[in-house]
Amino acid sequence: MAVATETKEDDRPESQYQKGVKHLCENGVNKVPKKYILPASDRPRMNYDGKLNVRKQNLKLPVIDFSELQGANRPQVLKSLANACEQYGFFQLVNHGIPSDVISSMIDVSTRFFELPFEERAKYMSSDMHAPVRYGTSFNQNKDTVFCWRDFLKLMCHPPSDVLPHWPSSPGDLRKLAATYSKETKNLFLMVMEAILESLGLVGTTENKTKEEDILKDFQDGSQLMVVNCYPPCPEPNLTLGMPPHSDYGFLTLLLQDEVEGLQIQFQEKWVTVQPIANSFVVNVGDHLEIFSNGKYKSVLHRVSVNSKKSRTSVASLHTLPFKCTVRPSPKLIDEENPRRYKDTNFATFLEYISSCEPKRKNFLDSRKLG
Ligand code: OGA
Ligand code: NI
Repeated sequence: MAVATETKEDDRPESQYQKGVKHLCENGVNKVPKKYILPASDRPRMNYDGKLNVRKQNLKLPVIDFSELQGANRPQVLKSLANACEQYGFFQLVNHGIPSDVISSMIDVSTRFFELPFEERAKYMSSDMHAPVRYGTSFNQNKDTVFCWRDFLKLMCHPPSDVLPHWPSSPGDLRKLAATYSKETKNLFLMVMEAILESLGLVGTTENKTKEEDILKDFQDGSQLMVVNCYPPCPEPNLTLGMPPHSDYGFLTLLLQDEVEGLQIQFQEKWVTVQPIANSFVVNVGDHLEIFSNGKYKSVLHRVSVNSKKSRTSVASLHTLPFKCTVRPSPKLIDEENPRRYKDTNFATFLEYISSCEPKRKNFLDSRKLG
């Protein structure tokens, strides 16, 4: 009998997996179905060469105190910021000024969305990459051969008047809370981006001010995508991942995670877990910023591991230039010693790229490299 049950669990029809992990868990799982089992070399405790390659100790990312950026210490903080973007591609942002109730409400309403009956969530399922709202599972459920242990809700945030009416009408307070949250993160992104430009030596000098002010203006009208991630508890967390190794496409991602660990970044060839800090954001450099900085700032691979005890919620806010705007290495960062290292690109090209092939590791960025 036991054998029969196990076989049944492994052999659900493919369409069941398309409904997502939350749905799967609601129907009871005590084993990871085959659909989610990674080849041994891709499992969370191995590296690609088959060696155990996870650091036991959590990583304390560089911490940037946003309030200090606004004061007399700005020059020192800009140095720490530059160092974090060069060495880790990641930092934690504290004292960022976004009220804690805006943050806790966003996590709370995200959790409530995933607790809705499946039929309610399913209304927003779509395979259209341009849809203003998209509910789905895995990384790319139309392409992934092995699924990851994640469901998501993707909300396009710009321009608000066009997209907000498409956002889920249930839970009843989702639109209001998510709109406030997205506006706050957008403002924070603009201020952090200004500091990043300054850390690259691109603002603050009177000479080229107008040009760089232009890019900040472009960012105001830029694209913002909010990805709400739900990672249900997993009965066998060593066999699968919540998200496979990937880099983010934009300039910066502002990630809000609840108190449950899961995010891991690649650091000195090993996977290390990022220690969550309450009321902070994990900020990371995306592909577009790596290109814009001509390789000075690094878009680093990261992934999500799952656990058997707790459900985990995170909200990633991805920011870049307007959809069709060209991203290219800043001319001021190119000279004879530092020749141009990347081709021109834009967000539209990225979407085309991921619709046409499996987004693995850093394929997209690699495809933009010169030479
Ligand atoms: C992402 C991402 C990490 C997490 O959404 O791109 O990397 O912890 N999320 O959910
Ligand atoms: Ni990511």
